[in-house]
Amino acid sequence: MTQARGPFRAAVLASGGGSNFQSLINHVASGDRTWSINLLVMNREQGAARRARSAGVPIHIIPTKGREVSEIAQETLRVLDEHAIDIVLLAGYLRCIPSEVTSRFSGRILNIHPALLPEFGGPGMYGMNVHRAVAESESAMIGATIHFVSELYDEGTILGQWRMSRCPEDSAEEIAAKVLKIEHRLYPAAVDHLCDALLAGTRPERMVDVDVKESFEEHHRKSSTSIELTEEIQ
Ligand code: GRF
Repeated sequence: MTQARGPFRAAVLASGGGSNFQSLINHVASGDRTWSINLLVMNREQGAARRARSAGVPIHIIPTKGREVSEIAQETLRVLDEHAIDIVLLAGYLRCIPSEVTSRFSGRILNIHPALLPEFGGPGMYGMNVHRAVAESESAMIGATIHFVSELYDEGTILGQWRMSRCPEDSAEEIAAKVLKIEHRLYPAAVDHLCDALLAGTRPERMVDVDVKESFEEHHRKSSTSIELTEEIQ
């Protein structure tokens, strides 16, 4: 792998309210980072667009309804090129990513999933469907996963996970709220980790829990934002 120079220009792809998008914006704004957010791509106008406007991030809407996948792929690649995007971050993007995009950005396209993959992933496993499945399971742990995006839904290589013990009495809604807090901490740390590897010209190692915690302690030192550690999330 050839060595790259940062800061890396990121595009976030989102379909909804964009709380993860906001956590990425906050992270970039709160310190000296190896990456920046230069584009928000949505398939329709939703809450994330408002967040982009307040942060001065350009927005591009790519409608997907009734369109050929090849046409969506071409438009996506064109807009990513126009904004000189290096890394792609899916944050609640509810549309299939064309294979032309995953192959062009191989090793530089991440997704966040609100459960501990490989369990609770695959077609139909998004939003509250995931949290209901976890609530109905015997699983002792809850958490979130960052993985590379490949052509196989939710099956790309895992970059990092943040896990915590599950309170057996928690409802699906309570699990969703706890996991979202984890997501907001895990995703920025994972992007830092990926960009460090890209700068070093290496493939990123899978993050372990300690990397995630250290990354947040580092973030806490550099910014005035108060960061809760895992134990306080529970
Ligand atoms: C998150 O739970 C994320 O894991 C999933 O979609 C949700 C998006 O939430 N992929 P938000 O729009 O970032 O608030």
